[in-house]
Amino acid sequence: MEFNFFEGSTDFINNLRKGNALLITKSDDKVNAMQIGWGYMGYMWRKPSIVVAVRHSRYSYELLRNSEAFVVSMPVNDELKEAVKICGSNSGRDVNKIEKCGFVTEKGKIIDVPYIKGCLNYECRIMYKQTIDSELIDEELHNLSYKDNDYHVMFYGEIVAVHNN
Ligand SMILES: Cc1cc2nc3c(=O)[nH]c(=O)nc-3n(C[C@H](O)[C@H](O)[C@H](O)COP(=O)(O)O)c2cc1C
Repeated sequence: MEFNFFEGSTDFINNLRKGNALLITKSDDKVNAMQIGWGYMGYMWRKPSIVVAVRHSRYSYELLRNSEAFVVSMPVNDELKEAVKICGSNSGRDVNKIEKCGFVTEKGKIIDVPYIKGCLNYECRIMYKQTIDSELIDEELHNLSYKDNDYHVMFYGEIVAVHNN
């Protein structure tokens, strides 16, 4: 599927809103899948981009901090949609979620992170990362989300491939 940014952005937002989104990360031979609900799509540095928000405490963060890329996978069929929940309630530190969910992975077409078959997949190359700054965030939001100081790191990825297979 050729990437059409504006067509894809509607699917992206709707899937995110419904919790039908996975962040796939890889470091060395370790691969992990985490459910995500926060993020956005747009343009940065003139590049079509996806930004994901990953808290420091996540195993996904451990993998991502040493990586140059990530995949956002959005399941298309109902069976895979169910499996997403497993990835939002278990940590890759304790369980191999790819195996537990029965995901079939395929080598990334452009990047060195696998994608999940049966999903709308966005392959992203990390351009920039930034931790939420406690001094700069609105106080109410800080109290809602960061009382425990478990801040999100925002990963800005350039979308380098989109496919649905
Ligand atoms: C609907 C939903 C959305 C979530 N969105 C995010 C998110 O955007 N960023 C994040 O850091 N954690 C998010 N989480 C929490 C992680 O998915 C969860 O803590 C997961 O077990 C972490 O996996 P990991 O330790 O293997 O990385 C979300 C959880 C749910 C249920």
